Amino acid sequence: MATDNWSILYLSQEDCVAAGGTVMSEALKATERSFFLHGKKDYIQPGKPVIRWGEAATEETTGRIMSMPSFLGGTAYLEELAARGLPGPVNTSGIKFIPSRPANPAKGLPRATALIIIVDPETLIPACVMDGAIVSAMRTGAASGVAAQYLANPDAKILGLVGASVQGMTQAAALKAAVPSLQSLRIFDINAQASASFARAMEAKLAMEIIPVTRVEEAFVDSDVIATATMAREPYVRAEWYKPGVFHAEISFWDTPPEALSVFERIFVDDWYQVKHHGVDVSWRAVKEGCIPEERISGEIGEVVTGQKVGRTSPEEKIFFNPIGLGIHDLSEAHRVYQNALAKNIGTRLNYFQRTNAWLESLSL
Ligand SMILES: NC(=O)c1ccc[n+]([C@@H]2O[C@H](COP(=O)([O-])OP(=O)(O)OC[C@H]3O[C@@H](n4cnc5c(N)ncnc54)[C@H](O)[C@@H]3O)[C@@H](O)[C@H]2O)c1
Repeated sequence: MATDNWSILYLSQEDCVAAGGTVMSEALKATERSFFLHGKKDYIQPGKPVIRWGEAATEETTGRIMSMPSFLGGTAYLEELAARGLPGPVNTSGIKFIPSRPANPAKGLPRATALIIIVDPETLIPACVMDGAIVSAMRTGAASGVAAQYLANPDAKILGLVGASVQGMTQAAALKAAVPSLQSLRIFDINAQASASFARAMEAKLAMEIIPVTRVEEAFVDSDVIATATMAREPYVRAEWYKPGVFHAEISFWDTPPEALSVFERIFVDDWYQVKHHGVDVSWRAVKEGCIPEERISGEIGEVVTGQKVGRTSPEEKIFFNPIGLGIHDLSEAHRVYQNALAKNIGTRLNYFQRTNAWLESLSL
């Protein structure tokens, strides 16, 4: 049966903002939905292919291109999702294509840019093509936020942040939204101007005191919650900087040395298969290099969200969270923004084809 006039909804960055793409409280819910469905195993997520021009460490120098396909369900958990205040099922598939060129910021361009495709669930024909940079940054912040909801001390006061760029900002927003007791933020970046701009841009948004610090350990020693989101190429963290009860979300890859992980009572990831598959996360390198046995990986956040594993068991426990980043988080958050865009009539309709297989009539030698 021929179908006429298939169009794709295109959402630019401005469209994503208009469709609520920068509202962290909603991104937290969409990301908790994907952690919940991950815990219930209602997803499909092949290991992500990564193009890079050398060993793992070259991702921080020459760059990389990741492709992250996934399917996320939800129909079997309608009541549980509603009872938790989480959005309804996703029941479709998509892919994020995300190149990263570390030299771009020096040229005034973003390090990471992305496009996401979401398919129509019935025909599996692309239905939406959208910016993926906002979704990616929001879901990465939100993943740390959801993990902090379950693993940080609920009376945490001081947030230490290393890395004052895109991911640092969404980490800060998500952690403050998830742990409202946080009052003060210590920010360190090797670029002092970046720390100063971060403080100017974020103080009013976060309603927190923000203190740019000049030595990286000042972001660690008194902090109850820590996030590291840098392009560091060499480890700089010292195990003795952590205070009892700390929750550290390491979303970048080379900040903490593998041997320092032995001071953590609990270590959680987002998906151990994906962490091993990509091979850059410090939790995997710590196991591979024999710094900790694999049994010291306590579990995946989805298992904690669904109650299959316990989260924090004492106020003194030091807990490390090391996500590699999941396509299902991108899909859940992108689907939220796409649904808002449909409801508010946001975006541009692009013609995909006007008549099924009409192009064959032009086939030539
Ligand atoms: N795990 C995940 O799910 C996930 C998702 C997205 C991004 N990331 C990672 O987050 C990191 C940050 O991303 P971004 O978009 O903000 O990058 P960016 O390039 O825009 O900014 C990086 C910041 O880190 C600072 N920096 C570099 N080396 C440093 C060091 N040794 N100490 C302190 N600061 C340092 C830079 O000055 C810059 O301000 C990247 O490594 C990226 O790969 C992880």
